[in-house]
Amino acid sequence: MASNDVNRIVASHLSYAYPEADRNAVEDVSVRVKKGEFLAILGHNGSGKSTLAKLFNALYVPSAGTVWVCGLDTKDDALVFDIRQHAGMVFQNPDNQIVATVVEEDVAFGLENNGVEPAQIRLRIDEALAAVNMSDFALKAPHLLSGGQKQRVAIAGVLAMKPDVIILDESTAMLDPSGRQEVMNTVHRLNREEGISVVIITHYMGEAATADYVIVMDDGRVAMSGTPREVFTQVAKVRALGLDVPPMTDLADMLRADGIGIRADVLTVDEMVEEVCRLSSRS
Ligand SMILES: Nc1ncnc2c1ncn2[C@@H]1O[C@H](COP(=O)(O)OP(=O)(O)OP(=O)(O)O)[C@@H](O)[C@H]1O
Ligand SMILES: [Mg+2]
Repeated sequence: MASNDVNRIVASHLSYAYPEADRNAVEDVSVRVKKGEFLAILGHNGSGKSTLAKLFNALYVPSAGTVWVCGLDTKDDALVFDIRQHAGMVFQNPDNQIVATVVEEDVAFGLENNGVEPAQIRLRIDEALAAVNMSDFALKAPHLLSGGQKQRVAIAGVLAMKPDVIILDESTAMLDPSGRQEVMNTVHRLNREEGISVVIITHYMGEAATADYVIVMDDGRVAMSGTPREVFTQVAKVRALGLDVPPMTDLADMLRADGIGIRADVLTVDEMVEEVCRLSSRS
């Protein structure tokens, strides 16, 4: 399919209403995720992020509009199985996602259910655990792992299906800062090295700052979109949508308010360091 080559997910005028709801949880959203692209979906609580993610994974079927995952229309019941292999989802609570009592069995779970041959299963488990740096834990009991390690096992379970897109719905929300960093490093590496497209939903603006593209949801609609720099430099608008800006953008904003001539579009710690060095070398 031609669209396979470039677009992993295409949503066109997508709307969704929960049964009995009096308004759409997702309203006329058009967005695309290209091959190798890293998208962050932001928005205050109840703005429609998780609903959108579930529409991307054929967990929900659109009330109006269309979603294609690697060219496959999610409205077609016969394609759901394929679609879930192309687009795997990782959720918030690692404990709800782990089903087996041994790490490698957990990673094998989806493969076994899909009738993959045992020799292939072995290979895929080994590859997937290596890809998330968890090979040493293959025979361990999941409940002994840290939150970050459990989420990496959950990601391995998705990876074993050889997906084109991984969707993470607040998958770092329950982790401590080091666990969050482990998971973010892992998905960035998979994105960079394996060309897997990534969609993250997050309340951490620092994580969103590392995406290629950001959309901000409000009341089911896309209220802002662009590169992280394009979005987060509109500090007042981002705040009006109930969000913070990334910590370094916030700091730059405060310094500017104090009359310090720092660049307004600082997003990351590295950029802040660069700016501070530039300013101090001038004084
Ligand atoms: N199962 C459901 N049945 C009915 N309404 C729902 C259901 N799940 C979510 N909603 C409603 O749909 C809207 C969007 O919810 P959604 O969970 O997509 O938001 P969200 O942006 O993911 O929020 P959060 O940041 O809290 O996770 C909200 O108004 C919510 O109350
Ligand atoms: Mg949600």
